[in-house]
Amino acid sequence: MAQLIGGLGTSHIPAIGSAIHKGLQQEPYWKPFFDGFPPIREWLGAKRPDVVVLFYNDHGLNFFLDKMPTFAVGAAPEYNNADEGWGIPTLPPFRGELDLSWHIINTLVEKEFDIVSCQEMLVDHACTLPLKLFWPEGDCPVTVVPVCINTVQFPLPKASRVYAMGKAVGEAIKSWDSSKKVAVIASGGLSHQLDGERAGFINKAFDLQFLDSLETNPEWATQFSIHELVEKTGTQGVELLMWLAMRGALTAAGPKVRRVTGNYHIPISNTATAVLALEAA
Ligand code: DHB
Ligand code: FE
Repeated sequence: MAQLIGGLGTSHIPAIGSAIHKGLQQEPYWKPFFDGFPPIREWLGAKRPDVVVLFYNDHGLNFFLDKMPTFAVGAAPEYNNADEGWGIPTLPPFRGELDLSWHIINTLVEKEFDIVSCQEMLVDHACTLPLKLFWPEGDCPVTVVPVCINTVQFPLPKASRVYAMGKAVGEAIKSWDSSKKVAVIASGGLSHQLDGERAGFINKAFDLQFLDSLETNPEWATQFSIHELVEKTGTQGVELLMWLAMRGALTAAGPKVRRVTGNYHIPISNTATAVLALEAA
């Protein structure tokens, strides 16, 4: 059976793509963010996952307001990157992991999650930037199963539902008939609001409590409704749902996780950034 080795999380602000492209990682503005990654890369270098299941939110590229799935799972041989308007460099296609895609899709439907399966899927900055941040050199060495969660158009899935979906994905990974090593990734957050009266809103106290809860009490955030999460984290801060899905998946690996490393920095662009690695204990 496949091995679920751990979970990673990172923010996915498009400007990160430009900073990488321009080589600005050591500039004073960017350094506190990029400094979070070497310890994670060291852990990845030691653990060497073959496959990642990546929880992310499409921002209006592959899914627009006319057709908006709550949960969508990629089942494509490769995923092409496009950009829905941020002007960042397009990355080469990422390789899929078809067998795991279909095993996750079968498992989710069996467990009564009504997902959309996508045999073609364009992926935006939320899917590509974490891969570039974790594996900056050359071609991405892992294959990918992207799992998209709607945070764009209401109604959004509530936190407890997302956590349960993550758990089901974790169970699918654990029951996958393969000798491969799998990691789960959360892309998004933490607190941010890009528009409206509260543009620039950041809630450090909530973010830090949330990060702590992922280690010690992973169901803590499931007590909040979507509207409470928007109030506490900003309209785009609800991207923290990805982190809940990632943590839900890790429950399939065991009752506890170990924090390998983490970083929190305010702000990059309009966003409170976080980076985290959790190892299945
Ligand atoms: C920003 C953050 C995001 O999560 C995103 O998808 C786009 C932009 C930002 O802070 O600029
Ligand atoms: Fe985003």
